Amino acid sequence: MQIPITPKLTEKLQPNFVPEIETGLLAKNASISPKFLYDPLGSHLFTAITLLPEYYPTNTEKNIFTKYHDQITNAIGTGGTLIDLGAGNCQKAESFFNALQPSNYLAIDFSVEYLENALKKLEGKYPNIQMQCIGMDFSKELIIPDSITKAKRTFFYPGSSIGNFLNSEALELLTQIKSQASDGGLLMGVDLMKEDSVLIAAYDDPLKVTAAFNLNILRSINAQLGSDFRVEQFRHQVKINHLENRVELYLEALEDLTVSWPGNSRVFKKGEFIHTENSHKYTIESIQLLLNKAGFKSTQIWTDPKDYFAVIYAQ
Ligand code: AVJ
Repeated sequence: MQIPITPKLTEKLQPNFVPEIETGLLAKNASISPKFLYDPLGSHLFTAITLLPEYYPTNTEKNIFTKYHDQITNAIGTGGTLIDLGAGNCQKAESFFNALQPSNYLAIDFSVEYLENALKKLEGKYPNIQMQCIGMDFSKELIIPDSITKAKRTFFYPGSSIGNFLNSEALELLTQIKSQASDGGLLMGVDLMKEDSVLIAAYDDPLKVTAAFNLNILRSINAQLGSDFRVEQFRHQVKINHLENRVELYLEALEDLTVSWPGNSRVFKKGEFIHTENSHKYTIESIQLLLNKAGFKSTQIWTDPKDYFAVIYAQ
């Protein structure tokens, strides 16, 4: 779903998410899409997560970007359009501006208010880069406006956000990226499978920032749906699913309760779960296979000494 762009900044049009949310809440195994984690407070809480020492993906990716900065930017080359998928606070893309010197920067995120603020600050700092932002749920369909030239599009998809998708969905998104990139490429961050203790610490941190981030989805849903979730009635739970190679986030009901919203309601028994997120972990082989299936012919891969995380440039 695409929200039209004005010459500079986006309009705050929100598609109707009510049917999607209701379907998830009324299912036997209730679920809420992780994109609803990123309301304005949720986006700030996620930024706080990235500052936690236990949350290794951000630090590790940053170290790889720094150590191999020249190799990475040489592989990509200068000029063209940098298309940032899930731009958030735009900081990661900014760290490549000087080396890549893109003529255009297109920032895309589900959380458009947060993005607008970030972009306003950035525009003043880089007068040579044309900047635009779009609020888009690209998990459904990736639509790049025709006004963005086809020549040399570099898609930037850091942070292992690809991990939120099931294999089939990830393949679909990567295929769309490949077809929209033409002679450009994709610079992506991918989290790798590792021991449970490291994953648990990262997704169930002792400061409980991740718990707050996860629980906040209920308030985000209250705002979208007009429901009456009470955060105190749930707790954050993390499971490692070894069969599917992923970390799973849940909210567990602490008591029997009923959640109501205009036109409907749902009973949760004590101990019942709402599934809020999957964070898939790849191996070098599994991500390479997926990229090849999506039509990418070549990959360059950089990792950290512990092989916790991979940065990949695919063409
Ligand atoms: C933004 C999807 C990459 O899966 O690690 C962080 C989100 N959830 N802590 C991840 C998240 C809980 C994050 N991604």
